[in-house]
Amino acid sequence: MAWRAIKKQGHQSQMPGPRRPEVMQLGFVCALLSLLAGNSWADTRTIGARECHPNSQPWQAGLFYVTRNPYRLLCGATLVSDRWLLTAAHCQRPYLWVRLGEHHLWKWEGPEQLFRVTEFFPHPGFNQDLRAQDHNNDIMLIRLPRKARLGPAVQPLNISETCVSPGTQCLISGWGAVSSPIVEYPLTLQCANISILEPRRCRLAYPGQISKRMLCAGLWEGGRGSCQGDSGGPLVCHGALAGVVSGGSEPCSRPRRPAVYSSVCHYVRWIRKTMEEY
Ligand SMILES: *[C@@H]1O[C@H](CO)[C@@H](O)[C@H](O)[C@H]1NC(C)=O
Ligand SMILES: *[C@@H]1O[C@H](CO)[C@@H](O)[C@H](O)[C@H]1NC(C)=O
Repeated sequence: MAWRAIKKQGHQSQMPGPRRPEVMQLGFVCALLSLLAGNSWADTRTIGARECHPNSQPWQAGLFYVTRNPYRLLCGATLVSDRWLLTAAHCQRPYLWVRLGEHHLWKWEGPEQLFRVTEFFPHPGFNQDLRAQDHNNDIMLIRLPRKARLGPAVQPLNISETCVSPGTQCLISGWGAVSSPIVEYPLTLQCANISILEPRRCRLAYPGQISKRMLCAGLWEGGRGSCQGDSGGPLVCHGALAGVVSGGSEPCSRPRRPAVYSSVCHYVRWIRKTMEEY
């Protein structure tokens, strides 16, 4: 399993735009939407995802990290109140830029809000040593330095207090790779319908690595799911946040290798307590 492997992408995006290739390059496994990986004819063909209706996922946030390559998209996140975001713990950096109200990453469309964040609350049970390949409790709260201005394009999403059952239809969204293993990143937010898979199948896909606080979602037959760059982003079921993208295998969306999510219903108490204390 190559979850959230820290490595650079070797392939450049074919999208237009001067700095897009470096800008969108990122080092984390998991992003959105994929293809029939493994079939050579389909190497760069994207299937399964489509552009979300602009601002139809008003809780979606993009996390950017400035390094040598400015404004690298690192992860997704979900606005859960006007002051807090929920994302994956492996997305933590010394600081991050948060974009809300975003759709097309390189166009100013009006509702965008930008925050520089430094207050991170990774789950205390998360193993900070990423080399340990320990995927437990890959969940983190981020506190915004000021309240987000809520409006049609910026709205929090309720967290799911009850656990969703296998077979439930859910929606994922993100700016993660739309093809794999030759990655291509979209400029606009992508959406896809996927299902919650049986825990038994999840354990079969990743033996010994799946805890009760994780869930697998995608299509068992492959072809649709999260991929690099989608980490930390939302899995929305019955109108509430049921999962946070944690990882998966590469290439993304192969048959029987669904993406893995932190199951939000198991963290409700920790989320509430943290939000109340700070
Ligand atoms: C969100 O949660 C609140 C409080 O639990 C509830 O009143 C509200 O109806 C929920 N909103 C949605 C869209 O489910
Ligand atoms: C997801 O499914 C719903 C209901 O079937 C449909 O209205 C929506 O367009 C689908 N979204 C995507 C991105 O395929």
